[in-house]
Amino acid sequence: MFESMQGIKRTHMVTELSSANVGERVVLTGWVNTRRDHGGLIFVDLRDRSGLIQLVFSPDADTEAFAKAEKVRSEYVLAAVGEIRRRSEETINPKLKTGEIEVTVCELRVLNKAKTPPFYIEEDTDVDENIRLRYRYLDLRRPDMQENIMLRYKVTRAARNFLDRKGFLEIETPMLTGSTPEGARDYLVPSRVNPGKFYALPQSPQLFKQILMVSGFDRYFQIVRCFRDEDLRADRQPEFTQIDMEMSFVEVEDVLNLMEEMIADTFKEAAGIDIETPFPRFTYKEAMDRFGSDKPDLRFGMELKDFTETAANSDFKVFAGVAASGGQVKGINAKGCADFSRKEIDDLTNFAAIYGAKGLAYIVVTDEGPKSPILKFFKEEEIKAIMDGFEAEPGDLLFFVADKPSIVANSLGALRVELARKKKLIDPDVFKFAWVVEFPLVEYDDEERRWVAIHHPFTSPFEDDIQFMDTEPAKVRARAYDIVLNGVELGGGSIRIHNREVQEKMFALLGMSREEAVEKFGFMLEAFEYGTPPHGGIAFGLDRLVMLMAQKDTIRDVIPFPKTQSATDLMTHAPSEVTLRQLQELHIKISTAKAKK
Ligand code: AMO
Ligand code: AMP
Repeated sequence: MFESMQGIKRTHMVTELSSANVGERVVLTGWVNTRRDHGGLIFVDLRDRSGLIQLVFSPDADTEAFAKAEKVRSEYVLAAVGEIRRRSEETINPKLKTGEIEVTVCELRVLNKAKTPPFYIEEDTDVDENIRLRYRYLDLRRPDMQENIMLRYKVTRAARNFLDRKGFLEIETPMLTGSTPEGARDYLVPSRVNPGKFYALPQSPQLFKQILMVSGFDRYFQIVRCFRDEDLRADRQPEFTQIDMEMSFVEVEDVLNLMEEMIADTFKEAAGIDIETPFPRFTYKEAMDRFGSDKPDLRFGMELKDFTETAANSDFKVFAGVAASGGQVKGINAKGCADFSRKEIDDLTNFAAIYGAKGLAYIVVTDEGPKSPILKFFKEEEIKAIMDGFEAEPGDLLFFVADKPSIVANSLGALRVELARKKKLIDPDVFKFAWVVEFPLVEYDDEERRWVAIHHPFTSPFEDDIQFMDTEPAKVRARAYDIVLNGVELGGGSIRIHNREVQEKMFALLGMSREEAVEKFGFMLEAFEYGTPPHGGIAFGLDRLVMLMAQKDTIRDVIPFPKTQSATDLMTHAPSEVTLRQLQELHIKISTAKAKK
């Protein structure tokens, strides 16, 4: 049967021990990582949260413990009483933190058995992620997952301490609430006591944190779960965590400066990484022009170059035509890629096509000069302008896309990142931050046939641009900012509207009737009339921050219990059907799937 901890108490986590403890009696607990039989001796690597230590069993030390050790298997739960000994020179394991010592066990208690796990509990694994998620409790035992979750804790602790020092108050906001427009679908919760009515889980605490500013709390933060029913990707989950902030009496500069300080402090505290501040700042326009993206990866160059003018005068009909109709002709210099095969270029052409590019013209720069099927359409001086613009050298491969500006930016922006990956230009140990500021306030949504807010409807326009809200909305700049790390959008925020007239104007621009605005956000419009300070804030995606810090490719690796791409939990089987009775109580009839009896 199983033994208990009665009469013994753990003395150390295993990696607290070192040669300094030689000769001490210790009580250690943990899981069997591995067991090796060496004739007269048995070695067990015991694992706890902190790491591994080697237990040694010999019949000379204790025959009962030795007999028990013969029967233990991987993942059994043990308590071992023994003495710390220095390992002999030739058995020292420099890879292990406790590699200079071992424990000669004189008493062993088997606290629990374990079935053979479906995969090895080890650092790196190539086990199918669905199996890892199904047995998440075992997956979370793996040392790299333990490190990720501990890093996550250290990040929240560092951020919380930093914000506390800066006078922020951590204040909770409701989870059962109305809809907040952050641009995704809501998760709805039916109200039993209000038949036919629903709460929405918050997409963010946006409205409440602004209301807290109206109430005079001045500086708010919350490490808070947000819910968005959107298409999932490697860096998106249906529920995720924000480090969310709001502050009164601030301008854009104040927020950016404080956040740079917080990021530098958090990286240092949580991971010992030095981050250089200030971060480079780009206007949205500059980021799109130079990198073809509003989340530029600054770990490599390959900036976009504009040849619209040159192309406009050329005899290449495709380019000249695009230039004449208000489009752009831009390109990137894939340095040292002149040896790409026809197939590689075709693959990249297909890649650019995903982003709408109708073609991908190219010039190979050889020792004998530029070579390309399109060169015949260009005059000598036009070719020179292109070569000079790219600072092209033999060995380079120049790519061009001609189209409307959004397609040029999206396709070349994506191609830039793809080429950097392909050519291994990205140093994974580098952290390159950037701010992108002065986003447009709104953009036209062709599908919805209306203007939509780029950040959210509470974002303040530039004062000078308010005059264009009625006439030329596309021209209005927002006092919004995104923080970008290594090409990933890490956070975003804005200075808010704090005036009823401007807020009503914004709602009107988004196609909301006066009645609709009052119905949805009347409380906010009303609050604005009772002394609202100017305010602004930002929210970081905690999951993304930890993912990048831990150098992982998906946020699922830094979330203890994430959902799959289809928003399911493979361990608990959520979402699941509910009983008819539950549905009836909630006044809900299901039209498609059957409810449980
Ligand atoms: P925004 O919508 O930009 O701003 O969200 C802020 C940050 O949250 C992270 N994030 C996500 N992370 C994982 N999964 C998701 N589905 C997901 N969606 C967003 C991103 C993003 O940058 N209320 C505003 C903030 C403000 O204006 O103060 C907001 O929520 O890292
Ligand atoms: P074509 O004249 O259509 O045979 O195209 C000649 C070259 O120009 C090919 O390499 C095409 O991929 C490229 N091309 C065609 N359309 C575009 C475009 N809109 N932008 C960039 N390159 C293009």
